[in-house]
Amino acid sequence: MKHLKILTANVHHDDQIELDAYERRGGYQAIRKVLKMDPAEVTAEVKASGLRGRGGAGFPTGVKWGFVPKNTGKPIYLLNNADESEPGTFKDRLLMERDPHLVIEGMMIAAWALGANWCCAYIRGEYSFPALMQQRAVDQAYEKGYLGKNIFGSGFDLDIVVHRGAGAYICGEETGLIESLEGNKGQPRIKPPFPAVVGLYGCPTVVNNTETLAALPWIMLNGASSYNSIGTEKSTGTKLFSASGHIKKPGVYEVNMGYPILDFINNECGGMRGDKALKAVITGGSSVPVLRADELEGVTLDYESCMEAGTFVGSGGFIVMDETTDMVEACLNLQHFYSHESCGQCTPCREGAHWVEKIVGRIYHGGGSSSDLSLIGDVTKQIAGHTICPFGDALVVPVQSFYKKFPEEFNERIDSALVSQIGNTHV
Ligand SMILES: Cc1cc2nc3c(=O)[nH]c(=O)nc-3n(C[C@H](O)[C@H](O)[C@H](O)COP(=O)(O)O)c2cc1C
Repeated sequence: MKHLKILTANVHHDDQIELDAYERRGGYQAIRKVLKMDPAEVTAEVKASGLRGRGGAGFPTGVKWGFVPKNTGKPIYLLNNADESEPGTFKDRLLMERDPHLVIEGMMIAAWALGANWCCAYIRGEYSFPALMQQRAVDQAYEKGYLGKNIFGSGFDLDIVVHRGAGAYICGEETGLIESLEGNKGQPRIKPPFPAVVGLYGCPTVVNNTETLAALPWIMLNGASSYNSIGTEKSTGTKLFSASGHIKKPGVYEVNMGYPILDFINNECGGMRGDKALKAVITGGSSVPVLRADELEGVTLDYESCMEAGTFVGSGGFIVMDETTDMVEACLNLQHFYSHESCGQCTPCREGAHWVEKIVGRIYHGGGSSSDLSLIGDVTKQIAGHTICPFGDALVVPVQSFYKKFPEEFNERIDSALVSQIGNTHV
């Protein structure tokens, strides 16, 4: 299958980070066109394209923009969510490092459509180099007069600020991000009200993922119908997947939505490392349920097919595991991440995340018993759906799905622990 390169067409050119090279390859043409359009027309075009948010939830971008109230007398803010901390996800990094002007142009288009004159790129604390490259590109754009006042003589003013987080996963959650940006602890807010109505400093705010924004220049240059003719009916366009794990060619790949998972592994990912057998795949970052190899036939990389298979496209963090993977260990690794990253605001999450890690750790280290399995069931039931933000729902996903899909590995650990306890008693 031939995949259109909407986001990654130019990432292989070393000079693409320079404004002049970006422009020579067609950059900053879409914004020139957009600034001659009515903002409502731009929103309508994005809606018609079917573009859905690439940060994880897959919410239609144009529809979200439509929730922003007009004429409230308050400023409207645009936030580019480049926090990218979901385990297995490293796609936004590629855009910032290799095509940062594409991200800027995407922000400019969204800002114009929304009536925002201030935009912030909130970049994950650990992303020193991407932040450096994004800041460098923003500086170039200011120097050339493409940011600031009266952009391209249109009367439109836009300032872009590059801000680095302090390295907390929860600051990728949009209201945690807003709190962090306001100088508070990165702890999510209760929704509603949604940020589109009450966001940064109480003003209407749109939070969009970096990849979502980077798709806008192509959509506005080529038209909604060109974009929605790619992919499937409900999952339009292309999507970046960051592929990692036991494959021959880890990396970031842009594929048309609707592409078969097995083709993706065998073609783009180069097949299994050491030609070992495929055991399991996480399609969209650690917060989505794992799929066994025997569940992958016929599943395609789009929102609907993944959901039908019992998982999600999520952030596109595609993690491949081969037959040598110890699923209890892999699960423990993920639970350790969640217990480390719980922001501590909600009791079920703060306490439960550590409990889950401890119990899975006990099973892994040979001290588990069969009652631990029902204890996990009990604890996870009290976390999911009982927290302010979806972190609580996400943290139970690895343990629930790994146990559901690979119960024999958990049971074996527990059984061998029992055997060794009985053995010790006899001694
Ligand atoms: C715990 C948690 C972490 C998140 N991390 C990110 C992130 O790093 N980047 C991102 O774009 N969205 C992240 N999200 C989703 C955002 O809250 C939000 O839905 C997204 O930025 C909206 O942009 P989009 O509509 O373009 O996808 C996270 C959500 C949760 C619950």
